[in-house]
Formats: sequence, C-alpha cells, structure tokens
Amino acid sequence: MAEKLGFGLLGSGLIAPFHAKSVQESDGGSLIAVCDTNRERADPLAGKFGVKAYCTLDDMLKDDRIHVVNVLLPNHLHHDAVVRSAKAGRHVIMEKPPAMTLQETDDMIAVCTAKKVKFTCMVQCRVRQAIQYMKKAVDDGRFGQILHADAYMKWFRSTDYYKSDAWRSSRKSGAGVTVQQAFHYIDLLQYIVGPVARVEAKMTNLAHPEIKIEDTVLSFVTYKNGALGVVQASTALWPGTDVRIEINGTNGTAIMMGEKMVTWKFRDERPEDATIRQVGSASQTTAAGGAADFGHLDHKVVIQNMIDAVRKDVPILIPVPSVRHTVEIVLGMYHSAARKTPIDLPVKDDPTVWDM
Ligand SMILES: NC(=O)c1ccc[n+]([C@@H]2O[C@H](COP(=O)([O-])OP(=O)(O)OC[C@H]3O[C@@H](n4cnc5c(N)ncnc54)[C@H](O)[C@@H]3O)[C@@H](O)[C@H]2O)c1
Repeated sequence: MAEKLGFGLLGSGLIAPFHAKSVQESDGGSLIAVCDTNRERADPLAGKFGVKAYCTLDDMLKDDRIHVVNVLLPNHLHHDAVVRSAKAGRHVIMEKPPAMTLQETDDMIAVCTAKKVKFTCMVQCRVRQAIQYMKKAVDDGRFGQILHADAYMKWFRSTDYYKSDAWRSSRKSGAGVTVQQAFHYIDLLQYIVGPVARVEAKMTNLAHPEIKIEDTVLSFVTYKNGALGVVQASTALWPGTDVRIEINGTNGTAIMMGEKMVTWKFRDERPEDATIRQVGSASQTTAAGGAADFGHLDHKVVIQNMIDAVRKDVPILIPVPSVRHTVEIVLGMYHSAARKTPIDLPVKDDPTVWDM
C-alpha cells in the first residue's frame, strides 16, 4: 500500500470541497482524484486541489492509487456507488442519509462487510464535543431518568438553493427537510438517547411554493426508554437560527445551540462541568442560513478516523449499522405524515411515501 491513503471523491458538488479540504489537512491521507458526470463541476474542483478529474466511477475505480471512495452523490444514488466501490475493494465514506430504503441500507452494510472494507456515514455532528459530552452524561446516568429529548432546527434555504439542482426538490431523490437537513439532528437524538418506539409527524410547505416537497416537519417522538420528544425542523424560517438539541432528565438538563453548549446543569455538579460549559463556539456557523455556511472540522474528524481505521485498525467512529435506525425513524415520520396517524417502529420500506 502507498505511504498515504488515497482518496477519490465521487460527486463534485456542494459538499465535495469540505471532503477535499479535510483530506488535504489530514494526517496520512492524500486526495488523488475527483469525479463528476458533469465536467463543469469536476474540472474546477480538480484544478483547485491539484488532482485528477474523472467523469465516471468506473474510470476512477481503475486508479489503483485510490483506497477510499467518498460517495457525495444525491441521496438516491448512494447505494449503487457504495456497492460498486466496495466490490472493487475500496473503503467507503458515504454522505448522509445512507439511502432511501432500509433494504438498500442493509444491502450496503452486507456488501461492505463481505468485502471486508471499512464503511462509515457522514453524520458528522455526532463528533461535536458538546454531543460527546451529552452522550457520556447519558451513559454515566447523570440525567437520571430522561424525560425529554428534542431537536429544533429553524433554518432557511432560498429558492436558489432548491432550484440549483433538480434532485433538491425531488422526494424520490432524497429531498425534503426531514430526510435531508433534519436527518442529522434526528440522528443525534437516537445516538444520545437511544431507540425510538413511536413517531407522529405532520409535514407542510410553508415558504417554498416553487417546490412540492415539505420544507417543514413537526413530529412527536416517544423513545423506547419512555422519554418524550419533539422534532421541529424547517428551511422556511429566515434568516435561520442555530439548531438546538435539548436533553432533560430528572437530574439534569443540557442544551447545545449550533455547536455550543449553552446549558449544562446537573444536580451532582462535578469539577469538570465548568470546562464543559465552555465547549463550542457561538460564532462557528452551522448551516442555519445557507447550505455551505459551515466549517469542515467535523468532516475532518470522520475522515481522519477512516485513515486511522485502515492504518491502525482503530474502530470506525460512525459505523453505518448505527445510522440505520435514523433511516427507520425518518421513514416512520414520512409514513405518519402520509397516513395521518402515529406510527410504531420498526417500520418496513414503503416506496410510495416518496411518491407524494
Ligand atoms: N454532511 C453534511 O453536512 C452534508 C451537507 C450537504 C450535503 N450533504 C450530502 O452530500 C451529498 C451530495 O450533496 P450536494 O449538496 O453536494 O449535492 P450536489 O448536487 O451539489 O452534488 C452532487 C454531484 O453529483 C454529481 N453526480 C450525479 N450523479 C453522478 C454520477 N452517477 N457519477 C458522478 N457524479 C454524479 C452531480 O453532477 C453533482 O455535481 C448528499 O447525499 C447530501 O445529503 C451532506
């Protein structure tokens, strides 16, 4: 194997520069190529980072300097690209959400397992320090009984954003605020608090008459451990304010806003709590007002983890099986909104929910 781990980016759109910068700044990774069926996207990106441009995945997979493929395609195209990359013996970093169905998610996991390649999903908010502290406090029992766990995402996306590519307004392609933007925060809730037992969701379009998909979701959530929760997410609320993740238990409350811990209070105050209250920066943008308006530091952690997993056999921080339940919760929300009824999990795939 070459001295550095070689990366090839499949898809050269909005998220690609975040991956490119992260690889370039990594310890042990080297950006080898970018790929896009649209040459007008691949060529400038390749030029900016001084790497080769390919037009097809098949051509990129012939380049044996590439050990990891970063799948940065519209959501409905992840499955095919992941399977082909893994079958070609490449490790895979896949953008979120994994896929539009549980069957495709399971299939990707099975192929990557069979081919013995490393496989991770970029739900990068999990690595934020504030989230790690919240999770540890849950694991340590500091919250007592968890009573509430909520995500409030009052964001804004312009008409230009939705018009910038056809897939951004097509539910079948994985658009819609629930599966696209809110996916990160639904994922955080299940990551921190544990599995969800029931969801009840309403979806609507408040401020984007030019598209047919939902720009707003309101959902009640019941967790398996008995806690209740709310997922409120919208891209209709100009100018967009920082996302809030709130966990309340009988013995404590923690709130992250953007990436900053704004509330951290427990009945059993510990010496480290003063430091934890300072975690995160209120000035770090986290995509509230624009799709590319955030830093790449969280991406960098996930990409460094892939390098260390391949090179030093450290565990993958975000194994895709741990994200499967988020796909299931999101599917449950779409089922619920379509049928106007609460939905108990687990759910089965029903592609008709993407037809509306
Ligand atoms: N983790 C995050 O915070 C974050 C943020 C934004 C987007 N994303 C995810 O990243 C992925 C891409 O989103 P984006 O906003 O960059 O989309 P985009 O439309 O800007 O870019 C996708 C690119 O893929 C190219 N493409 C389509 N089919 C292709 C194929 N078969 N082979 C090669 N190239 C092909 C398109 O030409 C386009 O340039 C999505 O899964 C999205 O959910 C994640």
